[in-house]
Amino acid sequence: MSSYDLIVIGTGPGGYVCAIKAAQLGLKTAVVEKRATLGGTCLNIGCIPSKALLHASEVFDHAGHQFAELGVDLETPKLNLPNMMKHKEAVIKSNVDGVAFLMKKNKIDTYTGTGSIAAAGKVTVTADDGSKQDLEAKNIVIATGSDVAGIPGVDVDIDEKVIVSSTGALELEKVPGKMVVVGGGVIGLELGSVWSRLGADVTVVEYLDTVLGGMDKDVSKQFKKIMEKQGVKFELGAKVTDVKKADSGGMVTFEPVKGGDAKSIGADIVLIATGRKPYTDNLGLKEAGVAMDDRGRVEIDDHFQTSVKGIYAIGDVVRGAMLAHKAEDEGVAVAEILSGQAGHVNYDVIPGVVYTQPEVASVGKTEEELKAAGIAYRAGKFPFSANGRARAMLAPDGFVKVLADKATDRVLGVHIIGLGAGEMIHEAAVLMEFGGSSEDLGRTCHAHPTMSEAVKEAAMATFAKPIHM
Ligand code: NAI
Repeated sequence: MSSYDLIVIGTGPGGYVCAIKAAQLGLKTAVVEKRATLGGTCLNIGCIPSKALLHASEVFDHAGHQFAELGVDLETPKLNLPNMMKHKEAVIKSNVDGVAFLMKKNKIDTYTGTGSIAAAGKVTVTADDGSKQDLEAKNIVIATGSDVAGIPGVDVDIDEKVIVSSTGALELEKVPGKMVVVGGGVIGLELGSVWSRLGADVTVVEYLDTVLGGMDKDVSKQFKKIMEKQGVKFELGAKVTDVKKADSGGMVTFEPVKGGDAKSIGADIVLIATGRKPYTDNLGLKEAGVAMDDRGRVEIDDHFQTSVKGIYAIGDVVRGAMLAHKAEDEGVAVAEILSGQAGHVNYDVIPGVVYTQPEVASVGKTEEELKAAGIAYRAGKFPFSANGRARAMLAPDGFVKVLADKATDRVLGVHIIGLGAGEMIHEAAVLMEFGGSSEDLGRTCHAHPTMSEAVKEAAMATFAKPIHM
C-alpha cells in the first residue's frame, strides 16, 4: 500500500496549491481527483473559463460600441460563438495541463477517482470503473470545494440545457434571445454580462433590494446603474418561487418580498445563480467521525484541523468566503502547519473581485459593517471621471472609496468600481496587510497617468483633500 505524509482530496486551487507547498516543504504528497483533469471547479468550469468568455465578450462589445469613438472604424462585428468557445476550451486546457505539470515537477502522485476517508490516515480511491485502491497518509486534507446550491426551498431541475447553472451557462450553443438570471450575486452578474454583451436580453431576478449583496452599498447602487446602462434589467426584492421548463425555454415565477402579486417571465435560458454549497458527497465523513456544522460545512479549528486528528479541511468546504484565493492561502497555511511552521491566513484582508466591466473590487470592511460595529471612520472618495487616464481609455465609470479609522487613520476597507479594479485593489491589500494609513497611501508616489492615481486621490480625500476635484 502506498504511504504518504499528506494526501489532499480535491485539486481545485485550495487542494493543488496545498499539495505543491507541502511538496516544496519536503512532505511526500499525493492528490486524489475525481475529474479527469486537475484544477477543480475554478479551472474547469468556473473562474478561468468564465474569465475567457468575459474577456472575449468584452472585446466583441467594444468592437461594436466603443471602437468608432476611438477612431477605429470597422464593419459591424460578427460573433463567431464556436470560435469564442474554442478560445475558452484552449484556456482551460493550458491551465489544467499546467497544474498536471506542476504535480510532476514537484513529484506529487496523482490518483484519479473519488477519494473517501475510511478513518484517520486511510484514503480509498474509487475509479470510474469501480476499482478501488487503498492509500495511507499521516495527514489528510479535504479540499473538495463546492457545488451548485439550487434555490432554497424551490425544486428546480437543472438540465444544463434550458435551466442552467454556471456550468451550462459557459457552454451555450447559441446566444439566447431572452435570459433570466435567478440571483444577482457574483455568478449572475458575471455570466449575465457575458450573454448580454453577446446580444441576449437579460433580466436578473434578485431576492434582496440590492445587487451584489454584502458589498458596500455605495458600490452596489452605482454598479446596478452601470449594468442598467449596459442593458441588463433587474427585478429586485423579488423572491423566485418556481422555475419550470415551458414548451420552449423556461418560465420563472417570482413574488415581491414585501408582498403582492406573483409575476412570471419566460426565457430561452434560465440561469440559476443562487449560491453554492459545500461538496462532501461520498467522502465518508460521517463514518470517519468528522463533525459538520448546521450549514453542511466541515468544522475546523483555528489550525484547519477537523474534529478528527490528522484530518484537515480548507476552501469552500469550510467556513468563510467561497473564493479560490482564500482556499489557496488556507492550503499554504495547512502545508506550513504540517511542516512545523506557523501557517496563518489573515481573513481581514481577503480581496473580492467581480469581473464585470467595469470590475468591482473590495477589501476589508464596508461602510455598513463599520457602522454596525460602531467604529468611527472617515471616508474618502474619488471618481474615475476625474482621472485623466480613465478619460483617455473611455472608462470614466466608477470610483474609489477608502475607509479609515477616524482616530488612527488605519485603512479598514477599500472599494473600487472601475476598469482594472481587480488589479488596483491589491495596493490596498498590501497597505492593509502592513496596517497602513490613508496618509501612507496618499503620500505614496503613483505613476502618472494611471488609473491607480484615483486610489491615491481617494486616500488623500480621506485624511486631507484630493487634488483633482
Ligand atoms: P451569491 O451568494 O453571490 O449570490 C446569490 C444571490 O441569489 C444572492 O444575492 C441571493 O439573495 C439570491 N437568491 C437566493 N435565493 C433567491 C430566490 N429564491 N429568488 C431570488 N434571488 C435569490 O452566489 P453565486 O453568485 O451563485 O456565487 C456562488 C459563490 O461563488 C459565491 O460565494 C461567490 O463568491 C463565488 N464566486 C466568486 C466569483 C468571483 O470571485 N469573481 C465568481 C463566481 C462565483
